[in-house]
Amino acid sequence: MKRAHVFLGPPGSGKGTQAKLLAERFALTHMSTGDILRDAVSKETEIGLRVKAVMAAGNLVDDDTVNGLVFARLQGKTTDVLFDGYPRTLQQAEALAEFLSSRGLELGLVVDIEVPEAALESRVVKRRVCSESSCGAIYHLDRKPPKTTGLCDLCGSPLKHRSDDTAEAFRSRMETFNATFKPLQAYYEGSPNYRLVDGSGTPDEVYEVVVKIFEERA
Ligand code: AP5
Repeated sequence: MKRAHVFLGPPGSGKGTQAKLLAERFALTHMSTGDILRDAVSKETEIGLRVKAVMAAGNLVDDDTVNGLVFARLQGKTTDVLFDGYPRTLQQAEALAEFLSSRGLELGLVVDIEVPEAALESRVVKRRVCSESSCGAIYHLDRKPPKTTGLCDLCGSPLKHRSDDTAEAFRSRMETFNATFKPLQAYYEGSPNYRLVDGSGTPDEVYEVVVKIFEERA
């Protein structure tokens, strides 16, 4: 691994949808801290049991826990990494910068996907995800429904509704985002690697823009 790219954006902005496509296209390791934490919850690990209620309530897991999970997974990685949902706080951004520089690694692109808040709730409440963690395909009941109701097109596993994808948990996640995002955005905004992307178009339209950003940088 030489570089770590970062996707920023509010809940439902399309980070996961775009990160999966980009990772495949550019042979990157997609690392979603949400997926890592949900996996820990479903396996009832010590961390999973500790963070379950925090996540269900739409709050952030503490920085030390998240940084620890991420840094353990970066050890020995050979491909560049694309983070989705990390860093989420100024402290996480600073810890990542320190981790990278102490190993002679670089921060890659920082893609900030901006979507008006009014468009986000229905994206999240109508999202369904593949229950097979190695697949994790993302659907939307209206805009990207599976071919067979309730089953993943890619691997045939049942689809599930995330426990934090209710309207109530979404509002709490948005509050958390609005309370924490500005300092994080300010930290990256001045960097030559930072790109603000309009995420309000269709997934294909957003993908076209993001691919160009990665191609220009390659
Ligand atoms: P996480 O899993 O990271 O959730 P999130 O940031 O809230 O983001 P989402 O996964 O909801 O949305 P997304 O932007 O990936 O959108 P998606 O592509 O799926 O985190 C969950 C929880 O874990 C947090 O609340 C926290 O507790 C904890 N956590 C995680 N990371 C942490 C960290 N670093 N520090 C502390 N705590 C952490 O798309 C959403 C839907 O919209 C889908 O249905 C999709 O089909 C649809 N869609 C996508 N793009 C479009 C489009 N362009 N137009 C229309 N629909 C679209």
